[in-house]
Amino acid sequence: MSRILFVCLGNICRSPAAEGILRKKAKDRGLDLYIESAGTGGWHVGDPPDARMIKTAGKRGYKLDHLRARQVELSDFYTFDYLLAMDLSNQGDLLAMAPPNRECDIRLFLDFASSSERETPDPYYGGDAGFEHVLNLLEQGAEGFLDHLEDESG
Ligand code: 4NP
Repeated sequence: MSRILFVCLGNICRSPAAEGILRKKAKDRGLDLYIESAGTGGWHVGDPPDARMIKTAGKRGYKLDHLRARQVELSDFYTFDYLLAMDLSNQGDLLAMAPPNRECDIRLFLDFASSSERETPDPYYGGDAGFEHVLNLLEQGAEGFLDHLEDESG
């Protein structure tokens, strides 16, 4: 069973949404995955996802209200097979703290998507359209990532 950690900055907008989306889409395909999310920053540790993201994702059938933010920790580099970053800054932070003997893949999530965008933009300071856009990108990322896992397992 693959173990996947989504990583953004605050762990209250993008990465918890990615977690909820992948969990649902994996279940729909009958794939058994272990999925969590975390932030590189610690400002929101213990908080639920942003209310705007809970609402926007909820309308698409993704339930996020039970999730609580946590910060990336060293053990994550050994626990998970994939650390999937939302943007290049998150990926850079992960690469900077990665222990040399880690075996996990540290990738940009949207590198698995068919979208032309590589980074999932931070919707925190924007309006509702930003949240919808993030969900569109994350849904594409999730489909592409699940295709990748299915290809890998043959
Ligand atoms: P996220 O968005 O990284 O998608 O969870 C953010 C949420 C909060 C902050 C930054 C980004 N913040 O600075 O508080």
